[in-house]
Amino acid sequence: MYKLTGVSKRYTRGKETVEALRGIDLVIEDGDQLVIQGPTGGGKSTLLQMIGGLDRPTEGSVQLDGVDLASISEARLTRLRAEKIGIIFQAFNLIPTLTAQENVETALVPLGVKPAERRERAAEALRSVGLGERLSHVPTELSGGQQQRVAIARALVKKPRVLLADEPTGNLDEGTRDDIMALLEGLWREHGLTFVLVTHDSSIARRAPRVATIKAGQLTVTDQDQYVS
Ligand SMILES: Nc1ncnc2c1ncn2[C@@H]1O[C@H](COP(=O)(O)OP(=O)(O)OP(=O)(O)O)[C@@H](O)[C@H]1O
Ligand SMILES: [Mg+2]
Repeated sequence: MYKLTGVSKRYTRGKETVEALRGIDLVIEDGDQLVIQGPTGGGKSTLLQMIGGLDRPTEGSVQLDGVDLASISEARLTRLRAEKIGIIFQAFNLIPTLTAQENVETALVPLGVKPAERRERAAEALRSVGLGERLSHVPTELSGGQQQRVAIARALVKKPRVLLADEPTGNLDEGTRDDIMALLEGLWREHGLTFVLVTHDSSIARRAPRVATIKAGQLTVTDQDQYVS
Protein backbone atom coordinates (compact mmCIF):
# COMPACT_ATOMS: atom_id res chain seq x y z
CA MET A 1 0.00 0.00 0.00
CA TYR A 2 1.11 3.51 -0.81
CA LYS A 3 0.47 6.34 1.59
CA LEU A 4 1.51 9.82 0.51
CA THR A 5 1.27 12.51 3.13
CA GLY A 6 1.78 16.22 2.52
CA VAL A 7 3.98 15.66 -0.52
CA SER A 8 5.37 18.88 -1.97
CA LYS A 9 7.99 19.30 -4.65
CA ARG A 10 9.71 22.55 -5.47
CA TYR A 11 12.16 22.92 -8.32
CA THR A 12 14.56 25.81 -7.98
CA ARG A 13 16.45 27.18 -10.95
CA GLY A 14 18.41 30.29 -10.13
CA LYS A 15 15.93 32.74 -8.63
CA GLU A 16 12.89 30.95 -9.98
CA THR A 17 10.94 28.40 -7.99
CA VAL A 18 8.32 26.08 -9.44
CA GLU A 19 5.87 24.50 -7.02
CA ALA A 20 5.26 21.31 -8.98
CA LEU A 21 3.40 19.51 -6.15
CA ARG A 22 1.59 21.20 -3.26
CA GLY A 23 0.75 19.10 -0.23
CA ILE A 24 -0.51 15.90 -1.86
CA ASP A 25 -2.26 13.26 0.28
CA LEU A 26 -3.05 9.98 -1.43
CA VAL A 27 -3.59 6.33 -0.55
CA ILE A 28 -3.27 3.57 -3.16
CA GLU A 29 -4.26 0.09 -2.01
CA ASP A 30 -2.42 -3.03 -3.22
CA GLY A 31 -3.78 -4.24 -6.54
CA ASP A 32 -5.60 -1.00 -7.28
CA GLN A 33 -5.52 0.89 -10.54
CA LEU A 34 -5.27 4.67 -10.43
CA VAL A 35 -5.39 6.87 -13.51
CA ILE A 36 -3.78 10.31 -13.21
CA GLN A 37 -5.02 13.09 -15.49
CA GLY A 38 -4.59 16.81 -15.77
CA PRO A 39 -3.28 19.67 -17.90
CA THR A 40 0.28 19.84 -19.16
CA GLY A 41 2.63 21.10 -16.47
CA GLY A 42 0.12 20.16 -13.77
CA GLY A 43 2.55 17.83 -11.99
CA LYS A 44 1.62 14.35 -13.25
CA SER A 45 5.12 13.18 -14.12
CA THR A 46 6.52 14.74 -10.98
CA LEU A 47 4.02 12.82 -8.86
CA LEU A 48 4.85 9.58 -10.68
CA GLN A 49 8.54 10.17 -9.99
CA MET A 50 7.80 10.49 -6.27
CA ILE A 51 5.72 7.30 -6.29
CA GLY A 52 8.44 5.48 -8.24
CA GLY A 53 11.23 6.65 -5.94
CA LEU A 54 12.99 8.28 -8.91
CA ASP A 55 13.15 11.57 -7.05
CA ARG A 56 12.41 12.75 -3.52
CA PRO A 57 9.83 15.27 -2.36
CA THR A 58 10.89 18.60 -0.87
CA GLU A 59 8.43 17.94 1.97
CA GLY A 60 6.23 15.08 3.08
CA SER A 61 6.47 11.31 2.99
CA VAL A 62 5.90 8.63 0.37
CA GLN A 63 5.34 5.36 2.20
CA LEU A 64 5.35 2.03 0.38
CA ASP A 65 4.39 -0.74 2.81
CA GLY A 66 5.42 1.50 5.69
CA VAL A 67 8.85 2.38 4.25
CA ASP A 68 9.31 6.09 3.55
CA LEU A 69 10.91 6.42 0.10
CA ALA A 70 11.61 10.08 0.90
CA SER A 71 14.02 9.33 3.72
CA ILE A 72 15.74 5.96 3.11
CA SER A 73 19.31 5.85 1.78
CA GLU A 74 20.02 6.09 -1.94
CA ALA A 75 21.31 2.49 -1.93
CA ARG A 76 18.16 1.14 -0.31
CA LEU A 77 15.97 3.18 -2.63
CA THR A 78 17.77 1.84 -5.72
CA ARG A 79 17.40 -1.71 -4.45
CA LEU A 80 13.71 -1.26 -3.62
CA ARG A 81 13.05 0.20 -7.07
CA ALA A 82 14.88 -2.64 -8.80
CA GLU A 83 12.85 -5.23 -6.90
CA LYS A 84 9.39 -3.81 -6.57
CA ILE A 85 8.69 -1.10 -9.13
CA GLY A 86 8.36 -1.42 -12.91
CA ILE A 87 8.21 1.81 -14.90
CA ILE A 88 7.14 2.49 -18.50
CA PHE A 89 7.66 5.83 -20.25
CA GLN A 90 6.15 7.51 -23.29
CA ALA A 91 9.48 7.41 -25.13
CA PHE A 92 10.09 3.67 -24.45
CA ASN A 93 13.68 4.42 -23.28
CA LEU A 94 15.19 1.26 -24.76
CA ILE A 95 18.95 0.93 -25.23
CA PRO A 96 19.43 1.20 -29.03
CA THR A 97 22.46 -1.11 -29.29
CA LEU A 98 20.86 -3.99 -27.37
CA THR A 99 18.44 -6.57 -28.73
CA ALA A 100 14.91 -6.86 -27.36
CA GLN A 101 16.00 -9.76 -25.17
CA GLU A 102 19.08 -7.91 -23.86
CA ASN A 103 17.00 -4.80 -23.12
CA VAL A 104 14.64 -6.87 -20.99
CA GLU A 105 17.57 -8.61 -19.27
CA THR A 106 18.91 -5.25 -18.02
CA ALA A 107 16.13 -5.18 -15.39
CA LEU A 108 17.48 -8.40 -13.83
CA VAL A 109 21.15 -7.38 -13.66
CA PRO A 110 20.82 -5.32 -10.43
CA LEU A 111 19.01 -8.25 -8.81
CA GLY A 112 22.01 -10.52 -9.35
CA VAL A 113 20.16 -13.01 -11.57
CA LYS A 114 22.61 -15.33 -13.39
CA PRO A 115 23.01 -14.84 -17.19
CA ALA A 116 21.34 -18.11 -18.26
CA GLU A 117 18.30 -17.46 -16.08
CA ARG A 118 18.22 -13.84 -17.25
CA ARG A 119 18.04 -14.93 -20.87
CA GLU A 120 15.30 -17.44 -20.14
CA ARG A 121 13.17 -15.02 -18.11
CA ALA A 122 13.60 -12.23 -20.67
CA ALA A 123 12.48 -14.56 -23.47
CA GLU A 124 9.49 -15.62 -21.39
CA ALA A 125 8.52 -12.00 -20.64
CA LEU A 126 8.78 -11.13 -24.35
CA ARG A 127 6.61 -14.12 -25.26
CA SER A 128 4.02 -12.91 -22.74
CA VAL A 129 3.72 -9.58 -24.58
CA GLY A 130 3.53 -11.30 -27.97
CA LEU A 131 7.13 -10.73 -29.06
CA GLY A 132 8.50 -14.26 -28.90
CA GLU A 133 9.54 -14.00 -32.56
CA ARG A 134 11.52 -10.77 -32.10
CA LEU A 135 14.05 -11.62 -29.38
CA SER A 136 17.14 -10.69 -31.39
CA HIS A 137 15.80 -7.52 -33.03
CA VAL A 138 17.27 -4.19 -31.97
CA PRO A 139 14.83 -1.27 -31.34
CA THR A 140 15.22 0.26 -34.86
CA GLU A 141 14.06 -3.07 -36.28
CA LEU A 142 10.81 -2.91 -34.30
CA SER A 143 7.64 -0.84 -34.73
CA GLY A 144 6.63 1.73 -32.08
CA GLY A 145 4.05 -0.61 -30.59
CA GLN A 146 6.59 -3.44 -30.51
CA GLN A 147 9.17 -1.20 -28.82
CA GLN A 148 6.63 -0.33 -26.15
CA ARG A 149 5.95 -4.05 -25.68
CA VAL A 150 9.68 -4.57 -25.06
CA ALA A 151 9.56 -1.77 -22.47
CA ILE A 152 6.55 -3.45 -20.82
CA ALA A 153 8.38 -6.79 -20.75
CA ARG A 154 11.39 -5.05 -19.20
CA ALA A 155 9.18 -3.48 -16.51
CA LEU A 156 7.50 -6.79 -15.68
CA VAL A 157 10.31 -9.36 -16.00
CA LYS A 158 11.37 -8.82 -12.38
CA LYS A 159 7.78 -9.50 -11.23
CA PRO A 160 7.30 -6.15 -9.53
CA ARG A 161 4.41 -5.34 -7.19
CA VAL A 162 3.98 -1.89 -8.66
CA LEU A 163 3.66 -0.84 -12.30
CA LEU A 164 3.92 2.86 -13.16
CA ALA A 165 3.27 4.16 -16.66
CA ASP A 166 3.74 7.77 -17.82
CA GLU A 167 1.69 8.29 -21.01
CA PRO A 168 2.74 4.87 -22.35
CA THR A 169 0.59 5.26 -25.46
CA GLY A 170 1.40 8.92 -26.16
CA ASN A 171 3.69 8.08 -29.11
CA LEU A 172 1.46 5.47 -30.73
CA ASP A 173 -1.31 5.53 -33.31
CA GLU A 174 -4.86 4.85 -32.19
CA GLY A 175 -5.07 1.15 -33.03
CA THR A 176 -1.71 0.37 -31.43
CA ARG A 177 -2.69 2.48 -28.44
CA ASP A 178 -5.75 0.29 -27.83
CA ASP A 179 -3.63 -2.88 -28.16
CA ILE A 180 -1.09 -1.63 -25.63
CA MET A 181 -3.79 -0.51 -23.18
CA ALA A 182 -5.56 -3.87 -23.45
CA LEU A 183 -2.23 -5.59 -22.80
CA LEU A 184 -1.51 -3.41 -19.74
CA GLU A 185 -5.01 -3.93 -18.31
CA GLY A 186 -4.70 -7.69 -18.81
CA LEU A 187 -1.31 -7.76 -17.08
CA TRP A 188 -2.66 -5.64 -14.21
CA ARG A 189 -5.52 -8.09 -13.60
CA GLU A 190 -3.44 -11.22 -14.11
CA HIS A 191 -0.58 -10.23 -11.81
CA GLY A 192 -2.54 -8.31 -9.16
CA LEU A 193 -0.26 -5.32 -9.65
CA THR A 194 -0.70 -1.91 -8.14
CA PHE A 195 -1.00 0.11 -11.36
CA VAL A 196 -0.64 3.88 -11.66
CA LEU A 197 -1.17 5.26 -15.14
CA VAL A 198 -0.72 8.82 -16.38
CA THR A 199 -2.75 9.43 -19.52
CA HIS A 200 -4.43 12.19 -21.52
CA ASP A 201 -6.76 9.62 -23.05
CA SER A 202 -10.24 10.27 -21.67
CA SER A 203 -11.65 6.96 -22.93
CA ILE A 204 -9.15 5.16 -20.68
CA ALA A 205 -9.98 7.45 -17.76
CA ARG A 206 -13.71 6.73 -18.15
CA ARG A 207 -13.11 3.01 -17.65
CA ALA A 208 -10.77 3.40 -14.67
CA PRO A 209 -12.04 2.61 -11.17
CA ARG A 210 -10.31 5.65 -9.71
CA VAL A 211 -9.13 8.84 -11.35
CA ALA A 212 -6.88 11.49 -9.82
CA THR A 213 -6.79 14.89 -11.45
CA ILE A 214 -3.78 17.06 -10.79
CA LYS A 215 -3.78 20.77 -11.56
CA ALA A 216 -1.14 23.27 -10.50
CA GLY A 217 0.29 20.66 -8.16
CA GLN A 218 -3.00 19.92 -6.37
CA LEU A 219 -4.80 16.62 -6.51
CA THR A 220 -8.45 15.60 -6.49
CA VAL A 221 -9.45 11.94 -6.50
CA THR A 222 -12.71 10.67 -7.95
CA ASP A 223 -13.83 7.20 -7.01
CA GLN A 224 -15.81 6.24 -10.10
CA ASP A 225 -17.54 3.27 -8.47
CA GLN A 226 -19.91 5.65 -6.73
CA TYR A 227 -21.06 7.05 -10.09
CA VAL A 228 -22.09 3.66 -11.46
CA SER A 229 -25.87 3.44 -11.17
N1 LIG B 1 13.56 19.17 -13.35
C1 LIG B 1 12.76 20.24 -13.31
N2 LIG B 1 13.25 21.47 -13.05
C2 LIG B 1 12.44 22.55 -12.98
N3 LIG B 1 11.12 22.52 -13.17
C3 LIG B 1 10.57 21.34 -13.46
C4 LIG B 1 11.35 20.13 -13.54
N4 LIG B 1 10.52 19.10 -13.83
C5 LIG B 1 9.28 19.63 -13.92
N5 LIG B 1 9.31 20.96 -13.70
C6 LIG B 1 8.13 21.87 -13.65
O1 LIG B 1 7.17 21.31 -12.77
C7 LIG B 1 5.86 21.44 -13.27
C8 LIG B 1 5.21 20.08 -13.38
O2 LIG B 1 5.86 19.33 -14.40
P1 LIG B 1 5.43 17.85 -14.80
O3 LIG B 1 6.45 17.32 -15.73
O4 LIG B 1 5.18 17.06 -13.56
O5 LIG B 1 4.06 18.10 -15.56
P2 LIG B 1 3.09 17.08 -16.30
O6 LIG B 1 1.75 17.18 -15.65
O7 LIG B 1 3.72 15.74 -16.35
O8 LIG B 1 2.99 17.69 -17.78
P3 LIG B 1 2.89 16.97 -19.22
O9 LIG B 1 1.45 16.60 -19.41
O10 LIG B 1 3.31 18.05 -20.17
O11 LIG B 1 3.81 15.80 -19.23
C9 LIG B 1 5.99 22.16 -14.62
O12 LIG B 1 5.71 23.52 -14.41
C10 LIG B 1 7.44 21.97 -15.01
O13 LIG B 1 7.92 23.02 -15.77
MG1 LIG C 1 4.44 14.52 -17.91
